[in-house]
Amino acid sequence: MDLQLKDKVVIVTGGAKGIGEAIVRLLAKEGATPVIVGRNEADNQRLADDIIAEGGKVFQLVAELTNPSASEEAIKIVLEKYGRIDGLVNNAGVNDGVGLESGNYESFLESLHKNVIHYYLMAHHALPALKKSKGAIVNIGSKVADTGQGGTSAYAASNGGRNALTREWAVELLPYGIRVNSVIVAECYTPLYQTWINSIPNSEEKLASIKAKIPFGNRMTTAEEIANATVFLLSEASSHTTGQLVYVDGGYVHLDRSISPL
Ligand SMILES: NC(=O)c1ccc[n+]([C@@H]2O[C@H](COP(=O)([O-])OP(=O)(O)OC[C@H]3O[C@@H](n4cnc5c(N)ncnc54)[C@H](O)[C@@H]3O)[C@@H](O)[C@H]2O)c1
Repeated sequence: MDLQLKDKVVIVTGGAKGIGEAIVRLLAKEGATPVIVGRNEADNQRLADDIIAEGGKVFQLVAELTNPSASEEAIKIVLEKYGRIDGLVNNAGVNDGVGLESGNYESFLESLHKNVIHYYLMAHHALPALKKSKGAIVNIGSKVADTGQGGTSAYAASNGGRNALTREWAVELLPYGIRVNSVIVAECYTPLYQTWINSIPNSEEKLASIKAKIPFGNRMTTAEEIANATVFLLSEASSHTTGQLVYVDGGYVHLDRSISPL
């Protein structure tokens, strides 16, 4: 299948590690020019060097996306360098455990800045360029919007927001031929996931019990599996797919976990 991504400029927020890294690597493999937007220059550059050493194209820029002006600045830098944007993957975020009981106004608002406000700002500032290119947007989301998790109100609200924005933008951007979709993640082993699991008492046992409940294969989803779906949704191969929430989760959210094979 020809994904027609050659030389397309695609921004990936949080593109230096985890799910974002896998998306950046696959885009480069497909001949696109991924733009890593991340807060840590050394992380960004490490991945960029790797891709260049493998013969791929890539660009990286440092941005702390909890800072509301960082999104506009990032888009400006990309447009100065390439003059075009063909795709946007909103991915940076963190499950930061701001609970109903444990949280407060400040921590709730801070978490929205970590997880959903920059999704809006990146899309808002990229829109004029996406209109010109008839580009595509993919928002990475979490099962927490559907299932809840307990103790993480702001992350749940952010993910509900990510899903709603996917539908809302898909409608608003119909006249411009811009498609907007989400890839929903349940359990994917990344640096973020590792930090979270290590924060739990008896983390080894907890990890084994989580895997046992994932219907398809009783295993975690890989970042590469998330990247495959994301890159497909960015590409012309999905030219009539818009407004969709695609669950790449081994059946975690929609299948009956009590009849899991293990
Ligand atoms: N890993 C999972 O199981 C899982 C499950 C559901 C949803 N998700 C979603 O996937 C996305 C990526 O998660 P991951 O597990 O790959 O995370 P990760 O922490 O492993 O990688 C995220 C990268 O984004 C960067 N980043 C985070 N916030 C940033 C900010 N404000 N500004 C700039 N850079 C920032 C980090 O420095 C890091 O390089 C998140 O939005 C998360 O909600 C992940």
